[in-house]
Amino acid sequence: MIGIIGAMDQEIDDLKKEMKNPTVETKSSLDFWKGELCGKEVVLVRSGIGKVNATIASEILIETYKVDALINTGVAGSLDAAINIGDIVLSIDAVQHDMDVRGLGYPKSVIPDQDCSIFPADEKLRALAKSICQKVNPEIGVFEGRVASGDLFVSSKEAKDEIKEVTGAMCAEMEGGAIAHAAYLAKVPYLVIRAISDKADGSAEMDYPSFQAQAIVHTVRLVTGMLAEM
Ligand code: ADE
Repeated sequence: MIGIIGAMDQEIDDLKKEMKNPTVETKSSLDFWKGELCGKEVVLVRSGIGKVNATIASEILIETYKVDALINTGVAGSLDAAINIGDIVLSIDAVQHDMDVRGLGYPKSVIPDQDCSIFPADEKLRALAKSICQKVNPEIGVFEGRVASGDLFVSSKEAKDEIKEVTGAMCAEMEGGAIAHAAYLAKVPYLVIRAISDKADGSAEMDYPSFQAQAIVHTVRLVTGMLAEM
Protein backbone atom coordinates (compact mmCIF):
# COMPACT_ATOMS: atom_id res chain seq x y z
CA MET A 1 0.00 0.00 0.00
CA ILE A 2 1.33 3.40 -1.03
CA GLY A 3 0.37 6.56 0.88
CA ILE A 4 0.03 9.71 -1.22
CA ILE A 5 -0.17 13.13 0.43
CA GLY A 6 -1.00 16.44 -1.22
CA ALA A 7 -1.56 19.60 0.80
CA MET A 8 -4.31 21.12 -1.35
CA ASP A 9 -7.32 19.77 -3.25
CA GLN A 10 -5.81 20.84 -6.57
CA GLU A 11 -2.74 18.70 -5.83
CA ILE A 12 -4.72 15.46 -5.40
CA ASP A 13 -8.00 15.95 -7.33
CA ASP A 14 -6.76 14.51 -10.63
CA LEU A 15 -5.31 11.49 -8.85
CA LYS A 16 -8.58 10.97 -6.98
CA LYS A 17 -10.54 11.04 -10.26
CA GLU A 18 -8.39 8.18 -11.63
CA MET A 19 -8.84 5.95 -8.57
CA LYS A 20 -10.79 2.69 -9.01
CA ASN A 21 -13.20 1.47 -6.30
CA PRO A 22 -12.53 4.41 -3.97
CA THR A 23 -13.74 4.28 -0.38
CA VAL A 24 -13.31 7.07 2.13
CA GLU A 25 -12.63 7.09 5.87
CA THR A 26 -12.37 10.25 7.96
CA LYS A 27 -9.78 10.44 10.71
CA SER A 28 -8.73 13.60 12.57
CA SER A 29 -11.00 15.51 10.15
CA LEU A 30 -8.98 14.28 7.16
CA ASP A 31 -10.50 12.17 4.36
CA PHE A 32 -8.41 9.12 3.50
CA TRP A 33 -9.30 7.80 0.03
CA LYS A 34 -8.42 4.14 -0.35
CA GLY A 35 -8.54 2.40 -3.72
CA GLU A 36 -6.60 1.35 -6.77
CA LEU A 37 -4.53 3.71 -8.87
CA CYS A 38 -2.71 2.41 -11.94
CA GLY A 39 -3.06 -1.14 -10.58
CA LYS A 40 -1.63 -0.33 -7.11
CA GLU A 41 -3.36 -0.13 -3.72
CA VAL A 42 -3.10 3.46 -2.52
CA VAL A 43 -4.42 5.72 0.22
CA LEU A 44 -4.67 9.33 -0.86
CA VAL A 45 -5.14 12.26 1.49
CA ARG A 46 -5.36 16.03 1.30
CA SER A 47 -3.44 16.94 4.44
CA GLY A 48 -4.04 20.67 4.44
CA ILE A 49 -1.22 23.17 4.38
CA GLY A 50 1.77 23.24 6.70
CA LYS A 51 3.99 20.97 8.76
CA VAL A 52 1.51 20.05 11.49
CA ASN A 53 -1.20 18.99 9.01
CA ALA A 54 1.35 17.04 7.00
CA THR A 55 2.64 15.28 10.12
CA ILE A 56 -0.85 14.23 11.22
CA ALA A 57 -1.65 12.84 7.76
CA SER A 58 1.70 11.00 7.61
CA GLU A 59 1.31 9.46 11.01
CA ILE A 60 -2.18 8.13 10.21
CA LEU A 61 -0.95 6.69 6.91
CA ILE A 62 1.94 5.01 8.71
CA GLU A 63 0.23 3.76 11.85
CA THR A 64 -3.33 3.07 10.67
CA TYR A 65 -2.91 2.20 6.99
CA LYS A 66 0.56 0.64 7.44
CA VAL A 67 1.74 2.13 4.15
CA ASP A 68 4.92 0.71 2.62
CA ALA A 69 5.96 4.11 1.28
CA LEU A 70 4.93 7.76 1.42
CA ILE A 71 4.83 9.98 -1.65
CA ASN A 72 4.29 13.69 -1.21
CA THR A 73 3.16 15.46 -4.36
CA GLY A 74 2.55 19.15 -4.92
CA VAL A 75 4.02 22.48 -5.90
CA ALA A 76 6.96 24.46 -4.56
CA GLY A 77 8.81 27.72 -4.97
CA SER A 78 12.17 27.51 -6.76
CA LEU A 79 15.26 28.61 -4.82
CA ASP A 80 17.58 28.15 -7.80
CA ALA A 81 17.59 30.33 -10.91
CA ALA A 82 18.26 27.23 -13.06
CA ILE A 83 14.98 25.61 -11.97
CA ASN A 84 12.04 27.07 -13.83
CA ILE A 85 8.31 27.15 -13.33
CA GLY A 86 6.89 23.77 -14.38
CA ASP A 87 10.15 21.89 -13.72
CA ILE A 88 10.18 19.06 -11.18
CA VAL A 89 12.31 18.68 -8.06
CA LEU A 90 12.73 15.21 -6.54
CA SER A 91 13.95 15.16 -2.95
CA ILE A 92 17.41 13.79 -2.24
CA ASP A 93 16.52 14.79 1.31
CA ALA A 94 14.30 17.24 3.17
CA VAL A 95 14.82 19.69 6.04
CA GLN A 96 12.70 22.06 8.14
CA HIS A 97 14.07 25.53 7.44
CA ASP A 98 12.02 27.17 10.21
CA MET A 99 13.41 25.00 13.03
CA ASP A 100 15.31 27.65 14.97
CA VAL A 101 17.01 26.89 18.28
CA ARG A 102 19.88 29.32 17.70
CA GLY A 103 19.06 30.83 21.09
CA LEU A 104 20.56 27.69 22.64
CA GLY A 105 23.52 27.59 20.27
CA TYR A 106 22.21 25.19 17.61
CA PRO A 107 22.60 26.09 13.94
CA LYS A 108 19.37 27.13 12.20
CA SER A 109 17.29 24.20 10.92
CA VAL A 110 18.94 21.71 13.31
CA ILE A 111 16.57 19.79 15.62
CA PRO A 112 18.22 19.49 19.04
CA ASP A 113 18.71 16.07 20.67
CA GLN A 114 17.87 14.17 17.52
CA ASP A 115 20.33 12.18 15.41
CA CYS A 116 19.03 13.61 12.18
CA SER A 117 17.61 16.92 10.94
CA ILE A 118 18.05 16.30 7.20
CA PHE A 119 15.98 13.30 6.27
CA PRO A 120 17.18 11.20 3.31
CA ALA A 121 14.63 10.14 0.70
CA ASP A 122 14.40 6.57 -0.54
CA GLU A 123 16.93 5.87 -3.27
CA LYS A 124 14.74 3.36 -5.16
CA LEU A 125 11.80 5.78 -5.27
CA ARG A 126 14.16 8.55 -6.41
CA ALA A 127 15.60 6.45 -9.23
CA LEU A 128 12.16 5.32 -10.38
CA ALA A 129 10.79 8.88 -10.29
CA LYS A 130 13.72 10.22 -12.25
CA SER A 131 13.47 7.69 -15.06
CA ILE A 132 9.67 7.93 -15.28
CA CYS A 133 9.77 11.73 -15.22
CA GLN A 134 12.06 11.85 -18.23
CA LYS A 135 9.60 9.59 -20.08
CA VAL A 136 6.29 11.22 -19.15
CA ASN A 137 7.42 14.86 -18.90
CA PRO A 138 10.14 15.11 -21.56
CA GLU A 139 9.50 18.82 -22.09
CA ILE A 140 10.56 19.90 -18.58
CA GLY A 141 13.66 19.71 -16.41
CA VAL A 142 13.87 17.18 -13.58
CA PHE A 143 16.20 18.09 -10.73
CA GLU A 144 17.29 16.17 -7.66
CA GLY A 145 18.12 18.10 -4.53
CA ARG A 146 17.20 19.21 -1.05
CA VAL A 147 13.66 20.30 -0.22
CA ALA A 148 13.28 22.95 2.49
CA SER A 149 9.97 23.08 4.36
CA GLY A 150 8.51 25.55 6.81
CA ASP A 151 5.29 27.18 7.87
CA LEU A 152 5.96 30.09 5.54
CA PHE A 153 4.93 30.88 1.98
CA VAL A 154 8.25 32.23 0.75
CA SER A 155 7.53 35.46 -1.09
CA SER A 156 10.45 37.82 -0.56
CA LYS A 157 13.97 37.81 -1.88
CA GLU A 158 15.32 38.13 1.69
CA ALA A 159 13.48 35.04 2.95
CA LYS A 160 14.38 33.11 -0.18
CA ASP A 161 18.08 33.97 0.08
CA GLU A 162 18.23 33.08 3.78
CA ILE A 163 16.56 29.68 3.30
CA LYS A 164 18.83 28.94 0.38
CA GLU A 165 21.94 29.91 2.32
CA VAL A 166 21.00 28.06 5.52
CA THR A 167 19.75 24.84 3.92
CA GLY A 168 21.27 24.65 0.44
CA ALA A 169 17.83 23.55 -0.81
CA MET A 170 16.56 23.65 -4.39
CA CYS A 171 12.97 24.48 -3.54
CA ALA A 172 10.79 25.64 -0.67
CA GLU A 173 7.39 24.33 0.32
CA MET A 174 5.41 23.74 3.49
CA GLU A 175 5.04 19.98 4.12
CA GLY A 176 7.80 17.77 2.71
CA GLY A 177 10.20 18.15 5.66
CA ALA A 178 7.49 17.10 8.10
CA ILE A 179 6.48 14.06 6.02
CA ALA A 180 10.16 13.15 5.72
CA HIS A 181 10.57 13.49 9.49
CA ALA A 182 7.62 11.18 10.23
CA ALA A 183 8.85 8.70 7.60
CA TYR A 184 12.38 8.75 9.05
CA LEU A 185 11.25 8.04 12.60
CA ALA A 186 8.99 5.19 11.42
CA LYS A 187 11.59 3.84 8.95
CA VAL A 188 9.18 4.14 6.04
CA PRO A 189 10.59 5.04 2.60
CA TYR A 190 9.47 8.40 1.27
CA LEU A 191 9.86 10.74 -1.69
CA VAL A 192 8.85 14.38 -2.14
CA ILE A 193 7.86 15.29 -5.70
CA ARG A 194 7.35 18.99 -6.32
CA ALA A 195 6.62 20.92 -9.50
CA ILE A 196 7.73 24.53 -9.43
CA SER A 197 4.82 26.99 -9.35
CA ASP A 198 6.75 30.19 -8.54
CA LYS A 199 10.16 31.67 -7.88
CA ALA A 200 9.61 32.16 -4.12
CA ASP A 201 10.28 35.90 -4.40
CA GLY A 202 8.18 39.02 -4.80
CA SER A 203 6.62 37.66 -8.00
CA ALA A 204 4.94 34.71 -6.22
CA GLU A 205 1.50 36.29 -5.94
CA MET A 206 1.35 36.95 -9.63
CA ASP A 207 2.81 33.62 -10.74
CA TYR A 208 1.03 31.31 -8.36
CA PRO A 209 -2.53 30.90 -9.68
CA SER A 210 -1.51 30.88 -13.31
CA PHE A 211 1.35 28.37 -13.03
CA GLN A 212 0.07 26.07 -10.30
CA ALA A 213 -2.33 24.17 -12.58
CA GLN A 214 0.32 23.50 -15.21
CA ALA A 215 2.82 22.42 -12.55
CA ILE A 216 0.32 19.92 -11.15
CA VAL A 217 -0.18 18.32 -14.60
CA HIS A 218 3.48 17.28 -14.41
CA THR A 219 3.28 15.79 -10.90
CA VAL A 220 0.11 13.85 -11.75
CA ARG A 221 1.74 12.36 -14.85
CA LEU A 222 4.78 11.43 -12.79
CA VAL A 223 2.94 9.87 -9.83
CA THR A 224 0.64 7.79 -12.05
CA GLY A 225 3.61 6.76 -14.21
CA MET A 226 5.53 5.64 -11.10
CA LEU A 227 2.62 3.66 -9.67
CA ALA A 228 2.24 1.80 -12.96
CA GLU A 229 5.89 0.66 -12.69
CA MET A 230 5.97 -0.18 -8.96
N1 ADE B 1 4.47 26.25 -2.42
C1 ADE B 1 4.50 26.76 -3.65
N2 ADE B 1 5.23 27.88 -3.70
C2 ADE B 1 5.68 28.09 -2.43
C3 ADE B 1 6.46 29.11 -1.83
N3 ADE B 1 6.91 30.13 -2.53
N4 ADE B 1 6.72 29.00 -0.51
C4 ADE B 1 6.23 27.97 0.21
N5 ADE B 1 5.48 26.99 -0.31
C5 ADE B 1 5.21 27.05 -1.62
